[in-house]
Formats: sequence, C-alpha cells, structure tokens
Amino acid sequence: TEAWRPEDDEPRGASGPVRVRVPAKVNLHLGVGPLRRDGYHELNTVYHAISIYDELTARRGDTLTLTMEGEGTGELALDDSNLVLRAAHALAGYAGVMPHARLHLRKQIPLAGGLAGGSADAAAALVACDALWGTGLSRDELAGIAADLGSDVPFLIHGGTALGTGRGEAVSPVLARPTSWHWVVAIADGGLSTPQAYRELDRLRETGAAGPPLGSTDGLLAALRQRDPRVLAATLGNDLQDAALAMRPSLAATLKAGEAAGALAGIVSGSGPTCVFLTADAADAERVAVELEAAGVCRQARIAHGPVPGARIT
Ligand code: C5P
Repeated sequence: TEAWRPEDDEPRGASGPVRVRVPAKVNLHLGVGPLRRDGYHELNTVYHAISIYDELTARRGDTLTLTMEGEGTGELALDDSNLVLRAAHALAGYAGVMPHARLHLRKQIPLAGGLAGGSADAAAALVACDALWGTGLSRDELAGIAADLGSDVPFLIHGGTALGTGRGEAVSPVLARPTSWHWVVAIADGGLSTPQAYRELDRLRETGAAGPPLGSTDGLLAALRQRDPRVLAATLGNDLQDAALAMRPSLAATLKAGEAAGALAGIVSGSGPTCVFLTADAADAERVAVELEAAGVCRQARIAHGPVPGARIT
C-alpha cells in the first residue's frame, strides 16, 4: 500500500499567517520625458528603497477581506479600488486560484506622499498572497503582474537602488559597493495627486516656466559609485519638483529649512509633498530631523537609511 503523503490532502501554501514588510521609495533622479500617447510620461529614474515600512499580514479566509491601521486609516478606501485588493485579484487570476485571504495592513508610509506607499502595499500583497496560496511565482513573474498595477510596483518587489525606464515599470538593479545613505524624510500635512503633478509639469513646460529637463542618469550613477554623500548630494534631482512647488508653495520653506539645518541637499520625493534630505551620517540625520520638526515646516520628520530590500516575508 502507498504511504500517506500530507500533500495529497492538504492545501498548498502556508497554513499560518504570512507577514510581509515593504519599504517606501524615493527617486534620487526623476527625469520626466514627453507625454506618451497612452497618457504616461517616459521616465529616466533612479529608484531607492528606504527604511520606512508598511507591513501586510495575510491569513487564510473564506473570502477576500482587507482591514488596516496606522497612516491614512479612515481615508483610504478598502473596496476593490484599493491596490492591495487589486493585487490579490490579479495574482489569483494569473495563477488560477480563488482569491481568498484575510489581509491586514499596518501603514507607516503616508498616503499620496510621493513615497509610493500604495504601490508598496500592492507589492506586499503579491508577495504575501503568493506565499499564502503556494503559487510559487518567481520574482520576475511577480514583477510582471506588478507592472499592470502601477508604474512603481515592480521596483517595490525588487527594492535596493535601481534604474527605472519606460513609464518606470522597467527596472534594472544598480550594482554598487554596499554603502548606506542617511536620509531625513519630512512628511507634510495632506497629500498631492500624482496625475495632477504630471499635468502641472506639462503646463509649466508649455509656458516655458519649467526648469531644463534633468536628462540622463549618468551623473547620478557615477556619484553612487563614489560613495561620498557630498558628491551624491550634488547630483540629486527631480523634474516634478517645480510642479510640486507650484501646487504647494510652502515646500520651498521646508527645503530651505532642511538645508539650513545642515542637510547636504533636499529634494521633493516623486510627486511630493514629502521632501527628503541627504545627510553626511546618522548623527547628522538625527540633528536635521529635530531641527526640521522644531521649525514647524512639516508634520513629522523621520530618519531613514537606504538602500533596503523590497517586499520580503519576515
Ligand atoms: O502608474 P501609476 O498608476 O502609479 O501612475 C499614476 C498616474 O501618474 C498616471 O495615471 C499618470 O497620470 C501619471 N504618470 C505619468 N507617467 C509615468 C507614471 C505615472 O504620467 N511614467
């Protein structure tokens, strides 16, 4: 007689909860090209994952549900428009399984902050549900599903520091000797809309009011290899910064306050309104964060380091 094998009867995947941690992203270089016919802009960007995290827990369930706590609770819709639920449905459809799970999200990344929090949560959902359901997709397969969910989602599967092209969804890792960069992240009150920031940049460019486009990432990539924060500081840049400043003029004071407090450079993160400051070391980051909060130019200043890995089971 055949021996009984557990895999004959038991469902695939994890029986206990799966917990996934996913970082926020900043763009060290965000070069925005022309508007494409599909409504997206061609990008030349360098993504960088930093140590501010959301956490998603997935448990077995009879339906698909989502609860949350932390940043944005009560503001973020928990219906099928939510990127976490869209990610779960997309993975289930791809793998041919039922989208059944009880998901719980603990958010520390602010909503609509330019730190790709929603995209991070979608990446976390793909990694968590893949483990819960035992669908066993490769990181590249997950990144393929991720690209349909949002331009930043593939990067948040990979993490680290990476070059992004196309609309941002084509990601390739930047190979550099291990270095940790120290950041201060100034979180603003309220968010900014990403589509609106891109539209504002198009408008500024049409009227000749935008600065010259950043162009190639070569200077920034060379600076990363030198491992000197002063060199990196001189090459940080974001084409969306003029648009974010036009939509939220108070960010100029935030940027100025961070540099006055001793940061090497400050830029708007993605489409804003979060501002990020590069500092010389961890002690400087602490000092700059304290001064920024005291100056009253942000809701909260947090310290972070990068690069860190993308969505991972803890
Ligand atoms: O890809 P994602 O859904 O995150 O993009 C949100 C919006 O940001 C898009 O609908 C578009 O308006 C704008 N966007 C863009 N060009 C990109 C990425 C995003 O215009 N490369």
